[in-house]
Amino acid sequence: MLRLLEIEPAMQALHGVVMELDDCAFPLVAGIEPTSSLRTAFEGTSWALLVGSVPRKAGMERNDLLNINGGIFKPQGEAINAHAASDVRVLVVGNPCNTNCLIARSHAPDVPDERWFAMTRLDQNRAMTQLAQRAGEPVTEVKRMAIWGNHSATQFPDFENATIGGKPVSDRIPELDWLQGEFITTVQQRGAAIIQARGASSAASAASAVIDSVQSIVTPTPADDFVSLAVVSHGEYGTPEGLLFGLPVRSDGSRCQVVEGLPHSSFAQERIKVTADELEGERAAVADLLQPAS
Ligand code: LMR
Repeated sequence: MLRLLEIEPAMQALHGVVMELDDCAFPLVAGIEPTSSLRTAFEGTSWALLVGSVPRKAGMERNDLLNINGGIFKPQGEAINAHAASDVRVLVVGNPCNTNCLIARSHAPDVPDERWFAMTRLDQNRAMTQLAQRAGEPVTEVKRMAIWGNHSATQFPDFENATIGGKPVSDRIPELDWLQGEFITTVQQRGAAIIQARGASSAASAASAVIDSVQSIVTPTPADDFVSLAVVSHGEYGTPEGLLFGLPVRSDGSRCQVVEGLPHSSFAQERIKVTADELEGERAAVADLLQPAS
């Protein structure tokens, strides 16, 4: 059963969404139930995909956005804690997704750390395509594409640890200026560029990245690869504990683990610090929306 939570009562689009989902004839969808009740939406759910959030509008500061979204993700976290299945896994997509996930998680203390994810897969896919196009290789040849930190313009798409055709990226693309410059900014700014181009936030690529994210969590990761997910940091690579931080992850099909021991140049370390600082700033900005750990 697919339950769709309507977070804005005035939203008329849900009926159209149900029609389109019906028209996809998804083999696993046994029924669709739109609801505005948090309890109904999360009752017994094993997968909570938190897609809806309030996007930034002209004149809004980033902190306004964080606070408005706290009003959405706090009650969703509480409802997940109270009503979801004991094996629930949560993927937050609505922006700012890392910090929205942090808020929801703090209100769901019974759901273990390893079941929380925020989506950096869209950035991974964007980075893979940029590298593949530059190298003139199929995108399937790009592997080990880690996105570090925040799903924002500070994220670090880690070309240093990625491979193309099994070789370091720098073997296939020996242009350090491009890798350290245009490549990174293109990936960081891609969401804004899509909004500029189509007058709306990414939709198809984001939906595809949600599918990729879920598949990468429930499928064993191939031996020569890892995937990008924002997961609860336990201090790996010096990242601040407790943040939902984009990290390289491997799954055994049921549990995800952060890949440890990847080397970083001083350039990469500086980039990771910038995005960690931003996430720390976001955590500070929503401090009064977070439930203290008991
Ligand atoms: C994207 O990366 O395409 C979106 O997260 C951008 C946005 O702010 O909606």
